[in-house]
Amino acid sequence: MSTNQNFYSVKDVSHLDQLLLSAQGMKAHPLKYKEFGKGKLLVLLFFNPSLRTKLSTQKAALNLGMQVISMDMKDSWAWEFEDGKIMDQNTAEHVKEAARVISGYADIIAIRSFPGLKDKESDYRDVVVNNFMKYSTKPVVNLESAIRHPLQSFADLMTIKEYSSVKKPKIVLSWAPHPKALPQAVANSFLEWMRAAGDSVTITHPEGYELDERFTEGHHVVYDQKEAFKNADFVYVKNWSSVKKYGQVISEDPTRMITREALSLSNEAKLLHCLPVRRNVVISDDAMDSDHSLISELAKNRLYTAQAVLYNILKGTL
Ligand code: CP
Repeated sequence: MSTNQNFYSVKDVSHLDQLLLSAQGMKAHPLKYKEFGKGKLLVLLFFNPSLRTKLSTQKAALNLGMQVISMDMKDSWAWEFEDGKIMDQNTAEHVKEAARVISGYADIIAIRSFPGLKDKESDYRDVVVNNFMKYSTKPVVNLESAIRHPLQSFADLMTIKEYSSVKKPKIVLSWAPHPKALPQAVANSFLEWMRAAGDSVTITHPEGYELDERFTEGHHVVYDQKEAFKNADFVYVKNWSSVKKYGQVISEDPTRMITREALSLSNEAKLLHCLPVRRNVVISDDAMDSDHSLISELAKNRLYTAQAVLYNILKGTL
């Protein structure tokens, strides 16, 4: 039994094809390993809201026979993550103690912690999850950190493989407008996982929304959304805030909302979004409710991919 198989990014996966097969197996037989995790505890720590990640990861653990405790971190102490900090202000609990304490109870620790979107350098150091991985003696699972959302991306990949009728589909990642500044984590991770799977993505967004080069490597940008959608088999929609003008909303261009008409330019593309989505701002009702949409199927695959990740961590085969 491994004690340090963290799931922070796709780089923690030794054989992506095998993990994908494992998730497909979980989907075919969700309760096959219902005794496997008996006596093991998953602790989930949420510094930010969640619907899908919270429910799917808990259900995944329950399907494996694990026990689960989920904590809303608003109910805990104010945490400190800085090394050497003189803690004479608001923070009361240092991650050094907390990670070790939770490691004494849990067999796997899973954490969600969003970025502040004020300071790129600080956010891109991903201090919350990285500190947990540093001080925990048990495996840590990333439930969406400041810059990555690997469980989402794994489900994205599974869904694209499941519904692709060709070996090399054209995959488009399309920015869409949103009134609030959102993290880049979903888009970053999507690109990282697609690259690991050997797929090159066409990214479309207004100028100024370029993602960090660490994630766009191997993919290419087509600013014109209509051009990008031509011959697309999958359109993955997500808003993110600017990286260059860090954390700012610099365009709300409504013509980039995803509509059925916009999708008609594609090759009958399947529509994906991680949810939650603002209807008629990010994606129109007529696209959301059309045959193009695989959005519910994608959300369902969150369960099986999470189950495969937990199972392979416990087995030591991630
Ligand atoms: N897609 C996703 O992670 O959803 P939640 O934020 O509701 O968990």
